[in-house]
Amino acid sequence: MKTAFITGASSGIGRAAAVALGKAGFKLVLTGRRRERLEELARELADVPTHLLTFDVRDRAAVDAAVASLPAEFADVDVLINNAGNAHGLGPIQQGDPADWDAMLDGNVKGLLYVSRAILPAMTRRNSGHIINIGSIAGHETYANGNVYCASKAAVAALTKGMRLDLLPHHIRVAEVNPGAVETEFSEVRFKGDTQRAAGVYQGYEALRAEDVADLLAFMVTRPAHVNIAEVLILPAAQGAATVIRKE
Ligand SMILES: NC(=O)c1ccc[n+]([C@@H]2O[C@H](COP(=O)([O-])OP(=O)(O)OC[C@H]3O[C@@H](n4cnc5c(N)ncnc54)[C@H](OP(=O)(O)O)[C@@H]3O)[C@@H](O)[C@H]2O)c1
Repeated sequence: MKTAFITGASSGIGRAAAVALGKAGFKLVLTGRRRERLEELARELADVPTHLLTFDVRDRAAVDAAVASLPAEFADVDVLINNAGNAHGLGPIQQGDPADWDAMLDGNVKGLLYVSRAILPAMTRRNSGHIINIGSIAGHETYANGNVYCASKAAVAALTKGMRLDLLPHHIRVAEVNPGAVETEFSEVRFKGDTQRAAGVYQGYEALRAEDVADLLAFMVTRPAHVNIAEVLILPAAQGAATVIRKE
């Protein structure tokens, strides 16, 4: 049984990915800060072997300690899904809150690096592995008021390419999935708990569901070893560009 390590499994895309990869026959390492969410997910996954790790991806020592604590049966990670991340705020750069900038750059960029760096020795030693970074349409198309979030996802795009090149000699596949609008807790986090404003982001059209992205991830990680689906943009049919959405 192969092992998948999913960051941000307590909500949204990461949670749906856990369900989809569990169905696809993986055992799972599920991570996030909200322990009770992970426990509830593990209960739902009943027959799937799971191991839970609670840590903040921004805390390098905590990341290293969590990965070092993996029991032998979960330590040889075959698939790493770097999904943990969020947007914090949406507004002009001149009014930006530096605490939001820190949260996005430390979480979306450095967190991805810390987790990858901790997991990679188990992959390079075995010359085998598959890493999927969750980027965003925002990393490929900067939109007004998206400034630092877009920059953090542009960094994910650059890092994905760099990782693919550096890990090539080790037979490690590296890919990036770039969603458009997915209805998750993403907008609630971005708008700091303003549920009405968050709901407005998904009104008047059918946004992607987390399960739609999870289907894609399950497809990618079950391709034969010589196939790397290296970069995918996945959009709701009603979305034409980052901020262009056909509303009814
Ligand atoms: N929803 C969209 O429209 C959309 C579009 C493009 C890309 N994305 C990307 O998709 C990924 C998943 O987002 P989502 O839409 O599923 O949002 P979500 O429902 O808010 O889930 C975010 C997940 O990331 C975890 N996380 C956030 N910061 C963390 C930290 N510092 N340390 C550890 N875990 C952290 C959260 O867990 P805890 O809070 O329990 O720690 C949660 O499980 C993100 O990288 C996001 O940028 C989303």
